[in-house]
Amino acid sequence: FLGIDTSTTSSKALLIDSNGVVIAVAAASHTLQTPKPLWSEQNPREWWDAVAASIKSVLEKAGVSGERVVAVGLTGQMHGLILLDENGSVLRPAILWNDQRTQSQCDEIHQVIGKEKFIQITGNVALTGFTAPKILWVKENEPSVYARAKHVLLPKDYIRFCLTGEYAMDKADGAGTVLFDLKARDWSDEVLAALGIPREWMPRTFEGTAFTGKVTEEAARLTGLKAGTPVAAGGGDQAAGAVGVGAVEPGIVGLTVGTSGVVFATTPSALIEPEGRLHAFCHAVPGMWHFMGVMLSAAGSLQWYRDTLAPNVSFDELVKEAESAPAGSEGLLFLPYLSGERTPYPDPLARGSFVGLTLRHTRAHMTRAVLEGVAFGLKDSFTLIQNAGLGKITQVRASGGGTKGALWCQILASALEAELVTVNTSEGTAFGAALLAGVGVGAWSDVASACKSTIQITGQTLPDDAQVNSYRRSYPLYRELYPALKTSFEKISQTN
Ligand code: XUL
Repeated sequence: FLGIDTSTTSSKALLIDSNGVVIAVAAASHTLQTPKPLWSEQNPREWWDAVAASIKSVLEKAGVSGERVVAVGLTGQMHGLILLDENGSVLRPAILWNDQRTQSQCDEIHQVIGKEKFIQITGNVALTGFTAPKILWVKENEPSVYARAKHVLLPKDYIRFCLTGEYAMDKADGAGTVLFDLKARDWSDEVLAALGIPREWMPRTFEGTAFTGKVTEEAARLTGLKAGTPVAAGGGDQAAGAVGVGAVEPGIVGLTVGTSGVVFATTPSALIEPEGRLHAFCHAVPGMWHFMGVMLSAAGSLQWYRDTLAPNVSFDELVKEAESAPAGSEGLLFLPYLSGERTPYPDPLARGSFVGLTLRHTRAHMTRAVLEGVAFGLKDSFTLIQNAGLGKITQVRASGGGTKGALWCQILASALEAELVTVNTSEGTAFGAALLAGVGVGAWSDVASACKSTIQITGQTLPDDAQVNSYRRSYPLYRELYPALKTSFEKISQTN
């Protein structure tokens, strides 16, 4: 089975065998364009070129012909807007998940539909990163593009279109457009009509394991796959990533510490957080939903900190040094809002901060404060999830670059007061997409069994009592800082 992940940085192809063992992985990178401040765009053709190259290369690395691939599953960056004309030609660069240009369209959506009603239908508030406000932005700012539009797709679904010629989308990513009726797991006619978006622009939506089309002759020629190979719906990167670490049942929470940080919890019904502070989307697991809290700069905070303040020091050295600072960093706190924030504060103007510096603080304290600040920000999402009526969280499955080292895992386990485990799947997102394809052709009876038979726990970190006590003192202080600084952040952003 082949999993394809079109992320922001690259497209990856991952091949697994029928036991879920990874045979080979190949990737090709993309460029990112920021033509104006707050804008973030990519050229969808670049994704397709990268996907075709990585499929060819993964088959080569594995030493197998495309004939051997039984089914393909897709995943990728969520929320990005791709507009196509009636011939399927791309009308403008894709507007990505991390683009922040649409605040006024978000306000407009809440005004037109009513914020509470919008949360009731879609499960979410309108955020700048989501797809719906981007469609309105094009309508208002590029009317000639809007006039030619006939199809709306998300990044992974553009790849599906190139592979199969079909306009289709999975339900997990569909919900991330915030044009979905969350309970009904399909487009909301009410929201589409209120926003004046034609229903016929939206593709058919499918459960993650369902097949949406077959590889065309042309795509076969470009990729080395066999024409006719079935392509499963798959899921947005967070939902497919949760499948890839086995976070597919309530009680097992996924925690990703990559550039961004995500706390992901499966829900058996369309639960919503009444104020829309958590994202509530469909899961890639058929008939399931999930909550998600997203921190925009998680390991990204450490990356910025290292690149800016200790450019010649390796991450390992820097984090090792931080072990010498005590839990709580002797009163030094870090707010990780370097690119604004989503959860629990949907605020593009929020800023990163160190608070509580004294002459006593060293670089070790500052590094530790960054690790702790990110852990506290993730705890904000974790706590919202715990309070959302989900029942007991029994295990947290951690993944992403930030969970490779022992110190950050220890800080996270103690801050969250939960057992943290790591699993054997390091390419969780593309792996999850491949599993969804495997379940689709009946290699496993359902997604949970596919996860059980292929994913093993490889490490465990328990909370440390002394650290827990320390964080019970410092987390409430951290919680006070954003409300205290919010107005200052707004004022700073007016001029800078
Ligand atoms: C999820 C989100 C990001 C992107 C990144 O809501 O916006 O995870 O999908 O790839």
